[in-house]
Amino acid sequence: MKTQITKDLYYIGSADRRIALFENVYPVPDGVTYNSYLLAGDEPVIFDTADGAFTGEFLRNAEEALAGKAPAYLIVSHMEPDHSASIKALSEKYPGMKIVVNARSKIFLEGFFPDLKAEFVVVKDGDAITVSGHTLRFVFAPMVHWPEVMFTYDENEGTLFSADAFGTFGSQGGVCGDAAQFEALVSEARRYYTNIVGKYGAQVLQALKKVTFEINRVCPLHGPVLLKAAFAKAAEYYVKWASYTPEKASAVIAYASVYGNTKRAAEYLQKALAERGISEVPIFDVSKTHFSYIIAECFKNSHIVLASITYNAGIFTNMETLVSEIVRHDIGGRKFSFVENGSWAAQSGKLMREEVSKLKNTSFVGETVSFRSAPKAETYAALDALADAIAEDVKNNG
Ligand SMILES: Cc1cc2nc3c(=O)[nH]c(=O)nc-3n(C[C@H](O)[C@H](O)[C@H](O)COP(=O)(O)O)c2cc1C
Ligand SMILES: [Fe+2]
Ligand SMILES: [Fe+2]
Repeated sequence: MKTQITKDLYYIGSADRRIALFENVYPVPDGVTYNSYLLAGDEPVIFDTADGAFTGEFLRNAEEALAGKAPAYLIVSHMEPDHSASIKALSEKYPGMKIVVNARSKIFLEGFFPDLKAEFVVVKDGDAITVSGHTLRFVFAPMVHWPEVMFTYDENEGTLFSADAFGTFGSQGGVCGDAAQFEALVSEARRYYTNIVGKYGAQVLQALKKVTFEINRVCPLHGPVLLKAAFAKAAEYYVKWASYTPEKASAVIAYASVYGNTKRAAEYLQKALAERGISEVPIFDVSKTHFSYIIAECFKNSHIVLASITYNAGIFTNMETLVSEIVRHDIGGRKFSFVENGSWAAQSGKLMREEVSKLKNTSFVGETVSFRSAPKAETYAALDALADAIAEDVKNNG
């Protein structure tokens, strides 16, 4: 189904409510959309295509919105298959359609579709084409989050086609009109950004710097179109996320526990923090909650507490995954504290600390709380001392 956005701009994407894991990693309990847009006119332009599972639906949507015409151009923002998998089918259906790429995306396109025959328009950063009275300018945004990413800006309408930037998980689509509506989406927008793009904060800031023009609406490749006020709110969040600035001076606790003793210690710490005025500290069992939710909380909060059992002389497996994801996402500027447990040779705290030391501007708060098997009076005393240190640091740095 097509949806009209402006007089001549249509949404022709698809909602995927069947998929369990986006990129075969990230749970999407509310699904995800693969957005594509059509700018109607004498020379219709399509912006990106759809995932391979939706080629049929995408072609139908495009045909409906084209109303008997053929597209003159397809603009390719980047070649990740959730948006590019239907290029060949679209090109075969409309052989006269020119494909607008940059030099890098052309190479990637040839990698995915070695036998695709089409006329290419290869553009450089800052180039523009004029179609149906619209000037479409190309703004390269490398590594947001693939190397060849480019935004397209419609100068007449103030529409930014932002590729995967400003996208969100969820199959609702539609239009997000104001700041309050964006706030309602922000937890999934945060989880999407931090996990998919989060590693490339410097590149996102570079790209945001290039977006100096008037924006009336942003058309991302996942989730709703953001109107001016919603985009302003989203941009505020993006600047924080991309610069690794915590949204809140507060803490998040993640624990790994098989038999419940480390859980008990983590919960005690959460209560001790609340007693010291640090309330609303989310607590996660790393075996239950997918790391993507915890990564999002690590971007949100200034202080991160990791509590793990020692497991085969290492860190418990799901905690090991979380720690390596924290490091892979380059979440700099956070304060870490640790709790370790082991029945014979506790060393998970030391190992977790070594891992997160690889991050930039990392610091540590309090002493690692180390205990054997089950928490005892001295463990609770050490957890109280850790809570004192975290609470003081949160208040000082808040
Ligand atoms: C498969 C397995 C491997 C373990 N490996 C170690 C180890 O290498 N060193 C150690 O001190 N404890 C080890 N432990 C013991 C746990 O770390 C310890 O019993 C801990 O108290 C469990 O805490 P929990 O109640 O939070 O699960 C292991 C436990 C399991 C189940
Ligand atoms: Fe992408
Ligand atoms: Fe995408």
